[in-house]
Amino acid sequence: MYTRVEITPEQRQKQLAFCAMIRERISFRPHYALVDTYGCQQNESDSELLRGWLAECGYLPTADEALADVIAVNTCAVREHAEQRVFGNVGALTHIRAKNPDLIVCVGGCMAQQETVKDRIRSSFRQVDLVFGPHEVWKFPELLWQTMERHGRRGNKGRLIAAEPSDGVIAEGLPRRRDSQLKAWLSIMNGCNNFCTYCIVPYVRGRERSRRPEDIVAECAALVEAGYKDITLLGQNVNSYGRGLSEEVDFPDLLRRLNALPGDFILRFMTSHPKDATEKLFKAMAECEKCAHQLHLPAQSGSSRVLKAMNRHYDRETYMQKAALARAYMPDLVLTTDIIVGFPGETEEEFAETLSLVEELRYDSMFTFLYSPRPGTPAAALPDPASRAEKQRRFDRLVAAANRISAEKHAAYVGSVQRVLVDGETGDKTRNLSARTRGGRLVHLAGDPALVGQFVNVTVTASSTWTLFGTLC
Ligand code: SAH
Ligand code: SF4
Ligand code: F3S
Repeated sequence: MYTRVEITPEQRQKQLAFCAMIRERISFRPHYALVDTYGCQQNESDSELLRGWLAECGYLPTADEALADVIAVNTCAVREHAEQRVFGNVGALTHIRAKNPDLIVCVGGCMAQQETVKDRIRSSFRQVDLVFGPHEVWKFPELLWQTMERHGRRGNKGRLIAAEPSDGVIAEGLPRRRDSQLKAWLSIMNGCNNFCTYCIVPYVRGRERSRRPEDIVAECAALVEAGYKDITLLGQNVNSYGRGLSEEVDFPDLLRRLNALPGDFILRFMTSHPKDATEKLFKAMAECEKCAHQLHLPAQSGSSRVLKAMNRHYDRETYMQKAALARAYMPDLVLTTDIIVGFPGETEEEFAETLSLVEELRYDSMFTFLYSPRPGTPAAALPDPASRAEKQRRFDRLVAAANRISAEKHAAYVGSVQRVLVDGETGDKTRNLSARTRGGRLVHLAGDPALVGQFVNVTVTASSTWTLFGTLC
């Protein structure tokens, strides 16, 4: 049973005191910090907190490793490839560290929660000074201070490995430095209780816990007040939002409360677990005028046998019915998904079921992944007879189908008028602005850069697999 642990105002105050001590300590010259992020939007959001703390500690942001006094790498453990990239890039910091012995290298995030990773850092990554997990972001200033105190001592005494096993905490009111002034991540919950058999997330992110609705509404209101126009609610399974709160509130209720806030802005969310996606959700999405008609509904597989082995708690038919129901409520719905190819024991016939699901549902876009065994998860212990080459062939076929369908769906936009939010510049001379439709599709168009941050109407004139091209109406 998970007991909710909330960080108290006193604990937060203590961290601010550490910030003041660090500010004092580094005040003799400008100091710089770099935060490098891997993984999902939850990690992007945590990196904004790390940048917030670092700014509070007196560090200026930099993108230049050679200039940095602190480098924090926020890692992802979801697939082996992500871990290898982190080890490669942290390994490469040896040279930077050799030139700047005062540099503090921190490795945080989901990888850090794994004992095997901590052991590998202890034995092979001398350049790492601090290891901390996602559950310790709220006390980063204290950990950074302790690391500074140890810095220069010999061997493992000179560093701090602090990623303790934890079910996770709720921390409100931490400082945050957002990347954008237009688009914001708004974390509504943390952790995951689903234990899909392939997935490491529940082991590294702790138990599912929801923020109080009033804290979320207040943060959203402050974002809108500050000019944010595109707000994405984040959780590993937003559809189970509210469980364990004293107040009776679910995700559709939360959407309606946020939708009621004054202002012109778009509400998006991810990720929706199909087992908990309900008609109540689709109805709320359809009725809330600020809610994007965009649903990321990871299917993972089109085979009921594989879905059962994945512990997904839905079968092919239920998934198809839910997708159809969502489209019935929102005929203009942009539907996207995640698919894992090559789950242990997936046969050619079962893969064909995934292909046919994709052909039938015609997703607007898809994220496709080759199954990656994660040590400690149940699926990693299953027999896996299909060869790597066979899995790769399946993967290539799926990607070809996904791309063809995306291109066809995009082509159907040509000639239509779309209300889009202009969100940045492309760097391209002819179509210099980028924008998003309400459903989240990317549009490139020509226009005055002063339009960035505004909603405009565009006529879609052409399309490709990934992008729509338009002109201002
Ligand atoms: N909570 C989200 C997913 C988070 S992980 C959800 O349930 O939808 C993002 C995606 O990574 C997953 O949807 C899955 O498709 C993929 N993934 C997770 N573990 C994986 C693994 N071991 N190998 C390959 N892909 C994986
Ligand atoms: Fe992983 Fe499943 Fe939780 Fe998503 S719902 S984070 S795939 S265990
Ligand atoms: Fe990766 Fe952790 Fe997100 S494992 S996908 S960064 S929750």
